[in-house]
Amino acid sequence: MRKIKVYAPGTVANLVCGFDILGLALNEPCDIMEVTLLDEPKVIIHNRDEFNLPTDPEKNVAGVVFLSVMEKIGGNTGFEVTIEKHIKPGSGIGSSAASAAGAAVAANHLLGNIFNTDELIQFAMNGEKLASGVKHADNIAPCILGGVSLIRSIHPLDIISIPSPDLHVTVVHPQIEVRTADARQILRKQVLLKDAIRQWGNIAGLVAGLLKNDLDLIGRSLEDVIIEPVRSILIPGFDEVKASCKEAGALGGGISGSGPSIFMLSKNETTARAVEAAMKEVYERLGIAYYTYVTTVNQKGVSVEEITIVNH
Ligand code: HSE
Repeated sequence: MRKIKVYAPGTVANLVCGFDILGLALNEPCDIMEVTLLDEPKVIIHNRDEFNLPTDPEKNVAGVVFLSVMEKIGGNTGFEVTIEKHIKPGSGIGSSAASAAGAAVAANHLLGNIFNTDELIQFAMNGEKLASGVKHADNIAPCILGGVSLIRSIHPLDIISIPSPDLHVTVVHPQIEVRTADARQILRKQVLLKDAIRQWGNIAGLVAGLLKNDLDLIGRSLEDVIIEPVRSILIPGFDEVKASCKEAGALGGGISGSGPSIFMLSKNETTARAVEAAMKEVYERLGIAYYTYVTTVNQKGVSVEEITIVNH
């Protein structure tokens, strides 16, 4: 029997201005999955955490990804997985994507790496669809690939990895749950041309800033005139957190994915820690429980470790 351990990192989708098209992988937090190959076509799920996620494979994000891999390959292959989530569901830091991407990479590894990255992203998007009602790859792509991903298109899939400077990332997760499906539901379906122009200027500026290692350009491009004004009302203390983090020296930031987490980019760890203190101060004052991470950009994406090889 062969067992592998998979580490699937948290991710920050959207990167403020790039709704559904930009995302970045984090070194912390990170989900852990132990996966074995079965010689019968079924999926067995165990949870090793307090989140009580469904163990019915059809209702579990990792489960539907394993099922979609099995449908593709046919035969008598199945998977048994123990999931230890450290990325809280509904936190906005890519919890469902970590389960989905982790499952896709694990299955592929156990099957002898028969699928390419685009195929893995396709499998994993089935998990995102279950979680949020819509296929989107801005968490999954950076989770699998590491670094920053640009999702130019999902039909057909066209994903570009963008080299990023060694940025420090501070995340605060106020302990409320925002369901991605709900946070998508409230968005306006139309945008004004003047807002679109401003937004695509920012997206292009952010991508150029990452490529040129121009931190000031990155900072001033972290502006969202379309999604943030609508979604930020779901996040208590959002404006205050943003203002005080900027004062503490953050390059910029905003809602992480669909929230409620807020992330900020900083050029060094000292600033990232000062930003964390600013976030804490706001939520202490508001009396809202929170959790913070001070981390860096994960450059390698989902990683796999062989833990047991027993020959029968
Ligand atoms: N781009 C998605 C959204 C990410 O903002 O709805 C969800 O994590």
